[in-house]
Amino acid sequence: MRVLLIGSGGREHALAVGLAADPSVERLIAAPGNPGIAAVAELRDVTATDPAAVAALAVEVAADLVVIGPEAPLVAGVADAVRAKGIACFGPSGAAARLEGSKAFAKDVMAAAGVPTGRSYECTGEAEVAAALDDFGPPYVVKNDGLAAGKGVVVTDDRTAAEEHARDCGRVVIEEYLDGPEVSLFVVTDGTAAVPLMPAQDFKRALDGDAGPNTGGMGAYAPLSWAPADLVERVMAETVMPTLAEMRDRGTPFAGLLYVGLALTGKGPKVIEFNARFGDPETQVVLALLATPLGELLRAAATGTLADFPPLRWYEGAAVTVVVASHNYPGTPRTGDVITGGEQPGVIHAGTARREDGALVSAGGRVLSATATGPDLAAARAAAYALVDGITLDGSHHRTDIALAAVENRIKL
Ligand code: AMP
Ligand code: GLY
Repeated sequence: MRVLLIGSGGREHALAVGLAADPSVERLIAAPGNPGIAAVAELRDVTATDPAAVAALAVEVAADLVVIGPEAPLVAGVADAVRAKGIACFGPSGAAARLEGSKAFAKDVMAAAGVPTGRSYECTGEAEVAAALDDFGPPYVVKNDGLAAGKGVVVTDDRTAAEEHARDCGRVVIEEYLDGPEVSLFVVTDGTAAVPLMPAQDFKRALDGDAGPNTGGMGAYAPLSWAPADLVERVMAETVMPTLAEMRDRGTPFAGLLYVGLALTGKGPKVIEFNARFGDPETQVVLALLATPLGELLRAAATGTLADFPPLRWYEGAAVTVVVASHNYPGTPRTGDVITGGEQPGVIHAGTARREDGALVSAGGRVLSATATGPDLAAARAAAYALVDGITLDGSHHRTDIALAAVENRIKL
């Protein structure tokens, strides 16, 4: 089949590597892509958030399947425009992508479906914000209602900082603080049938020891040896299936990738967030371990035939990815710095570009992620950090503790 992949980040590079390795994918086209994706796919230019432009490109390249990576095109209705051309598309409709596009909408769906999540208030204006903050007390969790590229959430003990974030956002969801290790669970679904992938853990804070501001994600690993044995089964029963049923009942079935961000609290797994697409950088580690052909899996979800799909197969061992971020990320990142070591196998490109002279340069906040597998987590971790050591990028920073607590058996439930 011919596959058109939309997006240009690390998640899309990881998806491109997985799709290119699937023998049923005869031709892989990516738009707009990045220099890493260019090594495994044919690149085309497109404005990813323009539904008509993406649909026209899908027709032009005679795509059998379109895979949409990032949230912004999904929320903009790009999947609807592709399907309107009669082309199979992996990615939810604009209406269903509101599960990610609006925190308030997601909370409403969760309440209707009886999904375990933190108590919350939707607030606009100082008085409502103050009342919600008073109710919950510190640590305060204040979330921008709309899309914010992983930076819309502030978790802080500082009341003034919480109020300032609420003021900057306008409309916010203020939520009960959920204590416990975080897990990302990806579920591939055609709207009715649902197949969970392997749970992974992401590191959202910028600095070692979970200090510093929230980011899009600074590293990830899988599998989670410390997670309860029934975790996936429980989350599928308590959260995923009721959410999919609620979305069907509303006439907006969710088909694509449901990303369930969870906190494993003392009262069981509770939803921190839904996303409507693969997570980044968790995709890098989950797909590194997936032995099932990725294109076939995504096509089954896109064509409503997931119920007949064979059980997923996984490689033995573990995978770790470490994000190399540019100077000043997650603030305004410095770009245009020359990268060396970016072409090593396992280095996934996110914010990279080719300069006119051919040099690989930084072009965003999260620049690369060094991804490696190994027979166990310690080996995968050592291999990922060895890859990081082979990369140079002036002013860059990365966390040095990705997967460390898990390797040292320090994660407590
Ligand atoms: P989100 O964009 O909703 O995933 O939030 C980003 C990060 O903020 C999460 O991965 C958590 O680390 C943190 N966070 C969000 N909501 C909560 C909550 N209710 N309790 C504790 N931490 C949270
Ligand atoms: N890694 C978190 C996300 O993709 O939202």
